[in-house]
Amino acid sequence: MRAKASDMHSKDCVKVAVRVRPFNKRERDAGSRCIISLVSTSISIQDPRDCHNRRSFCFDYAYWSHSGFTRDQTGLFVPEEPGGRYADQHSVFQDLGVGILENALQGYNATLLAYGQTGSGKSYSMVGYGPNKGLVPKLCDRLFEAIRENQENRQCQVVDLLSRGSRSAGGLRVREELQRGFYVEGLRKIPCENALQVEQLMEQGTRTRTTAATHMNANSSRSHMLIILQLKQIFSKESITKQSNINLVDLAGSERQRSSGSEADRLKEGTAINLSLTTLGNVISALADVAVGKKVVHIPYRDSVLTKLLQSALGGNSRTVMIATLSPADICYEESLSTLRYAERAKRIQNRAVVNESPTERLVKELKAENARLLQKLSRMDQEGRRATDESKELRQLLTQNELQIRAIQTLWEQHLQEALKDWEQQYANITQERRMMQMYPYILNINEDAQLSGVVKLFIQEGEWGIGLCDSAPRSISIKGLGIQEHHAVFRNEQRRVTLTPLTGSKVIVNGNAVYETAELQHLDRLILGSNCTYLFVGYPSERGGEDWSRYDYDYFQSELAAAEGIHLSESNTGCSQTDPSLLAVFYDYIQLMPMVAEANQISQELSKGVEFKLEIKNLALSDSRGHDLQKDIVVRVTAAGSKQVWMWSKAKFVNRKFLMEEVYQQFKAAQHEDNRVEGLLAVVLPRDKDPFWDPVEPLLLGTTHLWLQSLAFRIPLEEQLEVLGSEGTEEAILQAQLVPCTSTGLPLGEDDILIDPSEVLGRRLDFQLVLDQCCGVRWIREARNRGIQIGFRVFDCSEPLYTPAVWHNINPLLDHRVQFTSLQTSQRLLDYLQSSAVVLELWGLQEGCSVLSSSLGAVRMTAEGAFIIDLLHPSQAALSDSAELSCSVGALQQDVEELKSLNESLRKENHSLREQLNAVKNGGDGARGRSLRPSCDAEFARALKVFYHSMTSVRGQLQRLRRHRPSEESDLLGLRLFVDEQSRLLRDFSEQLEDGVSTLKQDVAAIVRRKRERSGIWS
Ligand SMILES: Nc1ncnc2c1ncn2[C@@H]1O[C@H](COP(=O)(O)OP(=O)(O)OP(=O)(O)O)[C@@H](O)[C@H]1O
Ligand SMILES: [Mg+2]
Repeated sequence: MRAKASDMHSKDCVKVAVRVRPFNKRERDAGSRCIISLVSTSISIQDPRDCHNRRSFCFDYAYWSHSGFTRDQTGLFVPEEPGGRYADQHSVFQDLGVGILENALQGYNATLLAYGQTGSGKSYSMVGYGPNKGLVPKLCDRLFEAIRENQENRQCQVVDLLSRGSRSAGGLRVREELQRGFYVEGLRKIPCENALQVEQLMEQGTRTRTTAATHMNANSSRSHMLIILQLKQIFSKESITKQSNINLVDLAGSERQRSSGSEADRLKEGTAINLSLTTLGNVISALADVAVGKKVVHIPYRDSVLTKLLQSALGGNSRTVMIATLSPADICYEESLSTLRYAERAKRIQNRAVVNESPTERLVKELKAENARLLQKLSRMDQEGRRATDESKELRQLLTQNELQIRAIQTLWEQHLQEALKDWEQQYANITQERRMMQMYPYILNINEDAQLSGVVKLFIQEGEWGIGLCDSAPRSISIKGLGIQEHHAVFRNEQRRVTLTPLTGSKVIVNGNAVYETAELQHLDRLILGSNCTYLFVGYPSERGGEDWSRYDYDYFQSELAAAEGIHLSESNTGCSQTDPSLLAVFYDYIQLMPMVAEANQISQELSKGVEFKLEIKNLALSDSRGHDLQKDIVVRVTAAGSKQVWMWSKAKFVNRKFLMEEVYQQFKAAQHEDNRVEGLLAVVLPRDKDPFWDPVEPLLLGTTHLWLQSLAFRIPLEEQLEVLGSEGTEEAILQAQLVPCTSTGLPLGEDDILIDPSEVLGRRLDFQLVLDQCCGVRWIREARNRGIQIGFRVFDCSEPLYTPAVWHNINPLLDHRVQFTSLQTSQRLLDYLQSSAVVLELWGLQEGCSVLSSSLGAVRMTAEGAFIIDLLHPSQAALSDSAELSCSVGALQQDVEELKSLNESLRKENHSLREQLNAVKNGGDGARGRSLRPSCDAEFARALKVFYHSMTSVRGQLQRLRRHRPSEESDLLGLRLFVDEQSRLLRDFSEQLEDGVSTLKQDVAAIVRRKRERSGIWS
């Protein structure tokens, strides 16, 4: 479907289109739900976790490319039926591309920007894949068609932002000039005569980008792609030229902006890529504010290279279209929503586009005319015999200057064209040569995180033995660069049309997800990972290649294979059904995405001798909240410094940001190493701490949690527990001995007689209890390094602050001996509900040398004179007042209840009256009070029975704890073990007897009470 909004914006507002792509394999496998819907030009997005939360936006164009399409014989994606709602590449071009082209032909600058998260379809829309050509190639086709059709003289140049040859380390520099605005210094302009040439140039551009990306030593580095087409039209009749720039921008994934921008990190803004996206966001925000009449002092174009180059496209002299691409899947909700918000802001930007006309040709004519005049004047002077005067010297100078100027204007284009043609013909010859080799030899093909850059580098394995590694100049070697690649990394042997790969000592080689240490024979389409993350697909001899689809072996495939080898995968039962929890899936994908980055970070750390190790963990995998509900899971990175044993936990966002910074440090290190020609890895790279991405101030670390359930307090029964403290991923971190003691206001423990049968008896009354933390045993954190300490943190009910035990250090079994009393002055229903359904979550915090200990700020906490913490402060009436809607609701319900109760009361009163009459009749006016005393007496019996039961349960629990602690001694032999088993079975027998006893006594008591009650009620009937 392609929809276009009525032209309600003024002409030069930035036009915004949104496009929704089909599910990708991951999303299909996971049974993702589509949360995006389109109606005409408005788009809605549904929050997958909250069915009431649905946001709608309206744009200039909205494209549904999610469903309703098929692939025709030529490989084109087209609508299933003619006129179907699927928007194919052609219809997108008709709307957006044609407009851009027309603008350019009229002499306006035009810009097309693609924005969206990684994998959302930016490159698909801009460049396209295979036969599904995107906007850029289609636009070029049309442009040259227009040139051919038109008799006017038009020239087209493509600006190549990533030109080859000697580039300074910092890349190309952006300069500013008064007339030209910002421009790129030393940029090559390549004249093109037809669309094919532009396409070939783009192919070369991709090649350069791929090489740059792999030479960055980190595959995951992404860049923006900026193609500038300069169109110059010479209208000879009118003697004017029109010149326009067409900027085509495929931005790096938008999540980059969020990953560094949203979360506070000590070190801000990873790299130029992040900075440029953040700045672009700021520029768009500022311009959107300007558009709605807000006062904006400063628009931060200058803050990044990208925004400098796009200045005319945003708020300047350009007609601009932005295409925002979206994934339809539930797991991408946050990113998609943020893309839509971004697009909405961009929509408001207003540009002031003007036709770029210049009278260049007129200038030439004028210069020529002036020269003719000068020549005439000179010849006249000659005739008059006035030689070598000052005047004639000046005239001659003017003449040469004018001639130079004319030549410059006329020859520049020709010259450029000749130079460029020669240059890229050479390159094109290389490509032809490569195509020939592909039909002769097996080769390995690079697979990149960015699908546009995959399959660009082909390394051929000819007959014989070939080393692969950094080795630049060695004979018979294939040179690759990348993190963790050794000078001599591995050896390929191609003998009798079989190819084997042998890793060399100390180098990392993974084939199809598994590490390889010895010679392995390669099969067609095997996946190779060399070093920390250089991914290649092995392509066998042409005879082995069938018609199979290689595209499934994308970057994700490599990473999923690796994760599966580590035991992390979505189980079969999870895939393909719609039941998979989206948050769990998101965690799985984060894991796969971060895995290669963690491998690279580890490699960088190793090469820079930083001694820091990174490891992926799933936060809250095994943990739950105070009601026992699962907590939101998340990926975190555990960072450990080998020497000091310091540990940090980084969020995904922080890690990604730091990873960018690490790459930068690493590049600088490599550059310095190259200049100094030093032997590798001599010294650890020392950075000032405020610039060191590997370091952070140490902080206390949450090691794990355990639950102390509060239900017994509702009955005023004491509880003593040995609790297993579990780490995020379910490991046992420690055993914690804790107690709950119902007590008096002065802290004296209550006795058995105070046990309640009906917890509601506490309502409205004072309730005191103590939480006692006795000891922690077998603390893993301290066992790993003795210079560490722990604290326990907890929060009870509505107590505004978490409380902490004092820090204890250096002891594996530290005594805590910590007792805190809590008081509710007037117990509310809320507190009672809390006690009956919740637990105190006890958090085990790890302290390390140099970190500050945790302390509660008690400013806002109220306490009794005896030093007990007052909880349950918000009285029911106050609580209700705080929410008037809730209040009126409950008033309504109460009134209804009152009515019902009134009528019930009336009927009961009648029944009561008749019963009393009956009773009087039977007993002849006997003692009515006895009947009334029957009920309390039954309850008293019941209470007694329960107390006996609770008592026996306390001793059963003691027995259970003895059993838990009972372990065989480590040095026990077979005899010792047998004795242990005997003892264990005796304890078990005792335990089960006590349990049986307790339960059967309770059963008998209850049965007796029920029987008696029946008998007594039988008197009445
Ligand atoms: N409209 C579409 N129809 C069919 N397939 C699509 C469409 N849009 C995207 N795809 C597919 O989705 C995948 C990812 O798309 P693409 O490479 O364009 O993402 P991207 O936004 O450029 O990501 P990155 O930021 O990583 O460069 C590709 O395999 C592409 O073929
Ligand atoms: Mg892309």
